[in-house]
Amino acid sequence: EIRAIREHIQTERFAAAGKGQNLTVGLVPTMGYLHDGHASLLHKARQISDLVVLSIFVNPIQFGPNEDYDRYPRDAEKDLALAEREGVDVVFMPSAQEMYPEPIRTKIKVEELTERLCGASRPGHFDGVTTVVGKLFHIVQPDQAFFGQKDAQQVAVIKQMVKDLNFGIDIIPCPIVREADGLALSSRNVYLTPEQRQAALVLSKSLHFVEEKAKSVGGVIVGDIRSDLIDTISSEPLAEIDYVEITKFPDLTALEDPDRLDSIGSDVLIALAVKFGSTRLIDNVILEKK
Ligand code: PAJ
Repeated sequence: EIRAIREHIQTERFAAAGKGQNLTVGLVPTMGYLHDGHASLLHKARQISDLVVLSIFVNPIQFGPNEDYDRYPRDAEKDLALAEREGVDVVFMPSAQEMYPEPIRTKIKVEELTERLCGASRPGHFDGVTTVVGKLFHIVQPDQAFFGQKDAQQVAVIKQMVKDLNFGIDIIPCPIVREADGLALSSRNVYLTPEQRQAALVLSKSLHFVEEKAKSVGGVIVGDIRSDLIDTISSEPLAEIDYVEITKFPDLTALEDPDRLDSIGSDVLIALAVKFGSTRLIDNVILEKK
């Protein structure tokens, strides 16, 4: 299967080369159960790359022992229909056995950036992500790869990996796609009960509130933003905060409470992870450097 995808891409490349073209390959890595967030990545890839490769693989090594690997939602048929609609050229959908025929002894680990935010709550998670993305990059050999800002830390970590290990692939971040009421699309939203789904709006609402405040009020300090977020989220009884983090982006260094948001000198990431029952959701906003 892995050899097949390479040969397929090579064939298309050679065919194109024969016509005097020089085609680029864009990769959109996913874990499937595709929604409009994934579709927006494919759409962007369609605009930028000549050939679009979609990978669908629920990567066991990025899940912790008590996480949702076994119950992670899957629907290959629906995913393939979406891929077709979005004009994907190649779908790469390996089995776990194909990707990891034997226990893996080599991993890619990005240091420091992976120890904070989601890395602190999910030890080893990002090593699993960088390792599988590194494998996918070697298998597909794309010119561009597309990632959603929904997972802002993942974007920062992958960019660092690509730079440190000379992958020579352009990493293209894509904006967060939301439901009409603000909830960021996620494959995990299907776990939510109707009450939790309603309660989960507190993420986007609180982020929107602090974003507007940071834009309109001069000299807002990090501590005020942090306490606004904690107060709003805590007022929702079904929400249990995992973290509320305000950091520089993309280096993810922490900001101190007295720091003024308009004098940081880099983009600022405001990121949340909040549990609703056993479902952990993340959301964020990036404030661009003034
Ligand atoms: P998955 O959660 O399936 O997400 C695949 C890609 O879709 C990621 O780049 C993610 O940021 C993006 N995405 C998800 N929801 C989005 C939304 N609402 N708006 C915009 N983009 C969104 O992230 C992973 O899979 C895995 O860690 C992976 C990179 C595939 C490695 O296994």
